Amino acid sequence: MIDPMPTTPRDIAPATGKLGVLLPGLGAVASTFIAGVLAARASGEAPIGSLSQMAHIRLGDRAENRNPLIKDFVPLAGLDDLVFGAWDPISANALEAATTAGVLEERDIAAVSAEMEGVVAMDAVFDQDWVKRLDGTRVKSGDTKMDLAEQLMADIENFRTENDCDRLVMVWCASTEAYRDVTDVHQSIEAFEQGLRDNDEMISPSQIYAYAAIMSGVPYANGAPNLSCDLPVMLQLAEREGVPIGGKDFKTGQTLMKTILAPGFKSRMLGLRGWYSTNILGNRDGEVLDDPENFKSKEVSKLGVIDTILQPDAYPTLYGDVDHVVRINYYPPRGDNKEGWDNIDIFGWMGYPMQIKVNFLCRDSILAAPLVLDLALFFDLASRAGESGVQEWMSFYFKAPMVQDEALNPEHDIFIQQIKLKNTLRTWMGEEPVTHTEM
Ligand SMILES: NC(=O)c1ccc[n+]([C@@H]2O[C@H](COP(=O)([O-])OP(=O)(O)OC[C@H]3O[C@@H](n4cnc5c(N)ncnc54)[C@H](O)[C@@H]3O)[C@@H](O)[C@H]2O)c1
Repeated sequence: MIDPMPTTPRDIAPATGKLGVLLPGLGAVASTFIAGVLAARASGEAPIGSLSQMAHIRLGDRAENRNPLIKDFVPLAGLDDLVFGAWDPISANALEAATTAGVLEERDIAAVSAEMEGVVAMDAVFDQDWVKRLDGTRVKSGDTKMDLAEQLMADIENFRTENDCDRLVMVWCASTEAYRDVTDVHQSIEAFEQGLRDNDEMISPSQIYAYAAIMSGVPYANGAPNLSCDLPVMLQLAEREGVPIGGKDFKTGQTLMKTILAPGFKSRMLGLRGWYSTNILGNRDGEVLDDPENFKSKEVSKLGVIDTILQPDAYPTLYGDVDHVVRINYYPPRGDNKEGWDNIDIFGWMGYPMQIKVNFLCRDSILAAPLVLDLALFFDLASRAGESGVQEWMSFYFKAPMVQDEALNPEHDIFIQQIKLKNTLRTWMGEEPVTHTEM
């Protein structure tokens, strides 16, 4: 066998100093994320569910036995170097947010309560028009949306200085905004900035945060399904400012299961006739999603998954006629402990039908928290590696992954996403991608 030529490593700036993790939205996900990082820091135990902290990465041939932890292979910020900032129209601080969310047991919150209380929410850019079910009081005011963007940029710079941060990264963990289409105001930087000055009603709060982040040179990841940085203006801005962006909608719960199961059916050429998914959920997120306009954002991001994995155009016999239905029902007694049911109608040899039932009693924020950590660390890495624009290699984390070029389909298959993520890291570090064809 010919020795593969090593690739040239990227020039990646070291992860020195502190990394500020800025979180619009200090609710269940954000407070669970912060508490988990603080707990891991105190115990020295790895945070479960985090690929950046727990996963190994194979390098070279299998025979070489090189299998370091990802965090020892690529220069990531350490957990001790993270500082947290947030904006929220309701929660005062991370301790209050965690207590209200009810995700974590009292004893787990008590162990980190002093530090949690120290993460005080900044006043939010919030507009009830976009989240009808919430009534925010800790809200910024300004004559125009441009004023609000400038206030956010001032918050970002103050946070950077006060916390002596070397770098910052922003992950949107706020409520899902109402579904609205892309309009003319989103088509160019000029149109968007004019829209900010004119208070264009189609510019949402999350878009103002994305604009402020990118203009401040801060990588931006969107954990919710609403339009935020997946807009022509943000792509142009991210390229111009040299800032990595990505989204959208954390891949947890039912969609995580879908992207694990569907590639398996397809790999065995089993047909699919229908996939009915329903959920009961009782947290604030569930309450927000109970509004049809906000649910529409979620529905759109959840529905794309199966089609892209199964490629009905290429496999009309197997996947040309699939009924895919997704429902979310707000049911307060269940709190953050969502229950999801899937009924999957598949068919096999000679067309004989079979059914699979999945009943996932999951904990939404427990599944989402490690994703926030990985996104913060990897977006920071991408920035230090000189990346800008959409980071497709982080599709692994998203329900509706953004693509660099609209003509391309996003990759939903979680196994391909993982290979893409790891091969990106290998290539950046001057190692050969692993194709599993040789040794
Ligand atoms: N938990 C999961 O598994 C999961 C998966 C995918 C996506 N998400 C998305 O992540 C987001 C957070 O979920 P959660 O369970 O923490 O919800 P949550 O309701 O507990 O927290 C959201 C917080 O955002 C705040 N908020 C609303 N508008 C804001 C604004 N304009 N600026 C700043 N803060 C604002 C709310 O006051 C609230 O405290 C939601 O959009 C949800 O759809 C969650």
